[in-house]
Amino acid sequence: MTTTTPTDRLAAARETLAAIGQEHVLTFFDQLDDAGKTQLLDQIEGIDWPEVAALIASHVKAKPQFEMPGEIEPAPWYPHTPTDDLRAKYIEAQRTGEKLIRAGKVCCFTVAGGQGTRLGWDGPKGTFPATPIRKLPLFACFAEYIHNIQNRFEVKVPWYIMTSPINDRQTRAFFEKHSYFGLKKENIMIFPQAMMPALDMTTGKVLLAAKDSIALSPNGHGGSLKALFTSGAIADMHRRGVTQISYTQVDNPIVRMVDPLFLGLHEIDNAGMSSKMLPKAYPKEKLGNFCKVHGKVTVIEYSNLPDELAEQRTDDGGLRFRAGSIALHAIKVSFVEKLNTRPSESGISGASFALPWNRAEKKVDHLDLTTGEVVAPDSPNAVKLETFVFDALPMSDVSIIYEADRVDEFAPIKNADAPEGEPENPDSPASSKRIQTERAARWLEKQRVKVPRRDDGTVDAVIELPQVTAIFPDDLEDEKLPSRIEPGSEVVI
Ligand code: UTP
Repeated sequence: MTTTTPTDRLAAARETLAAIGQEHVLTFFDQLDDAGKTQLLDQIEGIDWPEVAALIASHVKAKPQFEMPGEIEPAPWYPHTPTDDLRAKYIEAQRTGEKLIRAGKVCCFTVAGGQGTRLGWDGPKGTFPATPIRKLPLFACFAEYIHNIQNRFEVKVPWYIMTSPINDRQTRAFFEKHSYFGLKKENIMIFPQAMMPALDMTTGKVLLAAKDSIALSPNGHGGSLKALFTSGAIADMHRRGVTQISYTQVDNPIVRMVDPLFLGLHEIDNAGMSSKMLPKAYPKEKLGNFCKVHGKVTVIEYSNLPDELAEQRTDDGGLRFRAGSIALHAIKVSFVEKLNTRPSESGISGASFALPWNRAEKKVDHLDLTTGEVVAPDSPNAVKLETFVFDALPMSDVSIIYEADRVDEFAPIKNADAPEGEPENPDSPASSKRIQTERAARWLEKQRVKVPRRDDGTVDAVIELPQVTAIFPDDLEDEKLPSRIEPGSEVVI
């Protein structure tokens, strides 16, 4: 039991903040009621202030410069369709992946702690209606996928979801309201990630969101590797006998929550953390580049890859740095555990595990310290600090990359739709729905269903293929299908 009194807590907070020139955080403390005082002190005590002070010097007052590693080459990948020499390995990998799933050794993990500012949806992104006809929310799409896998492999697949303190309550309420989408509540674990204070871009001062609270934002998807451990999710995985985590993002309604082949390749090669890639459509496509740096798979952001490297071609005419990251990973439970528990050189458990911080300039509403009023800036005024999950890849001794198919499994929703009459925005609800229809059309055409197409090849209909029905192209083989889709129609298969 803690014996610290409110007075002691305030004195300790004052001392900590004063030591790094952030005592303004307590400007309104005396005006707060008891609940407000407790909330602010809880926040202050939850922040690693020496780390914040160091980051203000390195990432706010200075802009960290990207240092191009001396030796960099493209990372090798497993192609989507196996070459002759890989055919036997793919068959073994598929079997291995299926065996893992059937044995209950695989769990799903969705990172859903982001703020989704670009989409501008009022609520957690997972609640966004994503499918073209049924308007199924993203979380419901993922639940359908899990139902499919559970039926197919006669197993229960645990689902871990990382939220942030900003959207945790709403996310839980959404699952509750929808009765966990027919999944078992005890197999779904929702936990929040850690937060970082937003910092004034010029002064490095911590911004206040209200008199009783610091302007905090989630610490990036890299925070998931710590949150999995501190939340007890890893311990829960051990209890259930789960050994592999299938890591996916919240923004893609057709994401393969669990992919036997990918998991099988990752398992056979004894990798700690692996990734899926898409061949980039053009040299500077906004996807991280999978490279090999000092023998380790490393993602170099599109903005950091020099043009001359980005534009290099191989003999087949394709880009030399072709593999783009789509933020899908297979991660061994033991890899996450090792990161969080290995002793550092100082002997402190877990202290050696740190991902690099990244600086983002954003607009952050904050309190004016003289008036106590909220200011809504119209240009970026703050630095937010985030870590990225892919920065853990070089920490894995073995890390494989598998090529995914763009239409089969990638229809992300990141940006808001363009205003009516204007060209479609990339990675928007409209582009996602168009890709979902195209995917359904291709899979139906494979089964000889006549799909209407316009002169430019686009589908002249809206088609939705629920994930309970099909998650792989051949799943439609045994389905009763219409012989044709009428032009201009809307069809749920
Ligand atoms: P994005 O990079 O798309 O960021 O996240 P975002 O915060 O969702 O959206 P914007 O940039 O504000 O528009 C990619 C994935 O990582 C998760 C997101 O929820 C999404 O699934 N994420 C991101 C977290 O879980 N936590 C974070 O701190 C950041």
